[in-house]
Amino acid sequence: MDVEALEAELVAEIGNARDLDALERLRVATLGKKGRITELTKSLGQLPAEERRDAGQRYNQLKVRVTEALQGQKACLEAEALDARLRAERIDVTLPVRPLPDGRIHPVSQVSEEIVAIFGDMGFGVAEGPDVEDDFRNFTALNMPPDHPSRQMQDTFYLDHEIDGRPPVLRTHTSPVQIRTMQSGPPPHRIIAPGRTYRPDSDMTHTPMFHQVEGLVIDRRSHMGHLKGCLTEFVRAFFERDDVPVRFRPSFFPFTEPSAEMDIGCRRGGGELVVGEGDDWLEILGCGMVHPNVLRAVELDPEIWQGFAFGLGIDRVAMLKYGIPDLRTFFEADLRWLRHYGFVPLDVPTTHGGLSR
Ligand code: DAH
Repeated sequence: MDVEALEAELVAEIGNARDLDALERLRVATLGKKGRITELTKSLGQLPAEERRDAGQRYNQLKVRVTEALQGQKACLEAEALDARLRAERIDVTLPVRPLPDGRIHPVSQVSEEIVAIFGDMGFGVAEGPDVEDDFRNFTALNMPPDHPSRQMQDTFYLDHEIDGRPPVLRTHTSPVQIRTMQSGPPPHRIIAPGRTYRPDSDMTHTPMFHQVEGLVIDRRSHMGHLKGCLTEFVRAFFERDDVPVRFRPSFFPFTEPSAEMDIGCRRGGGELVVGEGDDWLEILGCGMVHPNVLRAVELDPEIWQGFAFGLGIDRVAMLKYGIPDLRTFFEADLRWLRHYGFVPLDVPTTHGGLSR
């Protein structure tokens, strides 16, 4: 048996293997169960005893060298495959951005980003919750126990199964994210939660699905003065006018005490509504100090923790800011509407770069 000739032959074949599959076939054909080298090793027993030791050593060396050749070629082929892939997937990040003539950002997305940018600058994080919410977080924990009349303040879509004896709902407001936030870890909390909300309503200013943003601040000493300062700052940043008049009117929400509604100054006339001037008022959001019962529902001690919350309709402020008359058109997916009211994708709203352009 000419072991050297066999080694030369096998190493040459391995060097010529073009891809990993071919290489694997060679491995099986040499070192596999019925491979040539395996068979050689098995045949040792038939050799005369005085030749066995020497042959054994040479077969072993053959095996080592062929294994090395296989490994070397495998590494080579893998490196080539990676190179080819990197070449194929190359992206020149220095190329100028191509104009996007048709794509537009929906006003709801744009306004949500504006709101996130403003509160982000004030140190608020963004929290999220699911659209399908349990009864406890949508109602009970927000100080609306079962059969409490305040549940009817919001007509509700119920689902047709039960969790803990009550059907889950399509959340009627983003307030359950307050509950989720407070359940997620210890205070302090400072978040806003934009998202979809649902109520069975439909007219010029109501759609069964709409958008709200919830705000929540919980710590040891935030009070009504902070609430007023924070929200005044927000509306002025949002409407991009430093002189927007604001007022807070006493109101009622089950989950806050005291509760208030915030109005902004406006002028109505000639079928037009101008925000930020004139002697009329327009209700813009609900707010208040988080009710002690809400804190108790998430096992926070109201003698230690306090804070404020607010809720704002995103679609509604989008209509106000951008002069869109009918809410239903938001969800008709009419491209002409979107081209008219939509935003250019690269105009990302920031408070320093300008919210809207
Ligand atoms: N959840 C209320 C609604 O859907 C809005 C709201 C009012 C939220 C006052 C609040 C709040 O957090 O303090 O109409």
